[in-house]
Amino acid sequence: MRELTLRKLTLGIETSCDDTSVALVDDNGTVHGQWMAGQVAGHTPFGGVVPELASRLHSEALMPLIDQAISSVEGGWSRIGLIATTSRPGLIGSLLVGVVTAKTLSLSFDLPLVGVNHIHGHIFSVFLDSQIQFPYVCLVVSGGHTHLYHVKSFTDITLLGQTRDDAAGEAFDKFSNILSLGFPGGPIVDKIAKSGNAKAYAFPRSMIRDENFEFSFSGLKSAALREVEGLPKPIRDSTKSDLAASYQEAICDVLIQKLKWAQKKMGVKNVAIAGGVSANSRLRARAEEWAQSEGLNLAIPPMKYCTDNAAMIAFAGVKRFQQGVKSDQTLTPKSSSLAEDFYEPS
Ligand code: KG4
Ligand code: ZN
Repeated sequence: MRELTLRKLTLGIETSCDDTSVALVDDNGTVHGQWMAGQVAGHTPFGGVVPELASRLHSEALMPLIDQAISSVEGGWSRIGLIATTSRPGLIGSLLVGVVTAKTLSLSFDLPLVGVNHIHGHIFSVFLDSQIQFPYVCLVVSGGHTHLYHVKSFTDITLLGQTRDDAAGEAFDKFSNILSLGFPGGPIVDKIAKSGNAKAYAFPRSMIRDENFEFSFSGLKSAALREVEGLPKPIRDSTKSDLAASYQEAICDVLIQKLKWAQKKMGVKNVAIAGGVSANSRLRARAEEWAQSEGLNLAIPPMKYCTDNAAMIAFAGVKRFQQGVKSDQTLTPKSSSLAEDFYEPS
């Protein structure tokens, strides 16, 4: 009887970039806990993520987080039924910390292991503590990705299009660097844009009229750089806010337009936005406004599941495991995620 009430949990591990995260999630996507160690303080003096430093900080933070997670549940390790770890794409040294730890724990506790594609994690993050129906179109916008997917099931995902150059998050981060606002740029730009005028500067909306699912943000970044170079120094805070609001609006216009096309073309009623940039308050507001006016079901994860997190890795992992996918001690991290190996766990 007790066995029935104490369901097995998946231990998720995420170390693909600069967030060390561990989570315990059940098969339904209910998150029993998530433990995080961010690295912002470590990387801030360098203005961006330093890969070697990221790996070192992951190796220091990961096991204590796992210990916390395991000791939080009655029964400890006996409650764990699966270990899921991000195995691609990401910084190779960072991924290695998670993969090696997961393999060791799998061997030590005789637990099955599954390597998870980080992008699957973002795509299915909309199931965490909430519900969305298949099929849906999903815009994955993060520091490394700006991808549009048609998601028909946990196994049937079609890439509709992606950025040709910079990712949306990268565009936010680069803009922040141009104005020396700080790192990571997205949340800072989001904050100062709130008091700015989004019409103050006419930034380009690359490819917005092209009825395809491709994006380009490098021209926007160059336009911002030129604009900033031409301004008298020091730049006033109100000008920085106007620049941020105008820049953010240009990104949101393109993202929303492409999402609208994808929704129309795929003929779906369910739409999702995931990844770090889905935490952007303006993007969320614009998407909600659109979904409401069209009678669509919109899913955007709560903030804690937008940026990199282990709960989404655990959930994507358990779904892959239920489909018969399993990794073993040969699981190796890969920095890239090619279209042809999108579904492969290792
Ligand atoms: O998904 P994520 O945590 O890591 C990757 O997989 O890349 O996304 C990180 C990205 C960064 O570029 C960060 O600046 C951006 O998400 N980001 C935001 C916001 N919060 C995080 N961008 C815009 N507005 C935000 N509020
Ligand atoms: Zn991510």
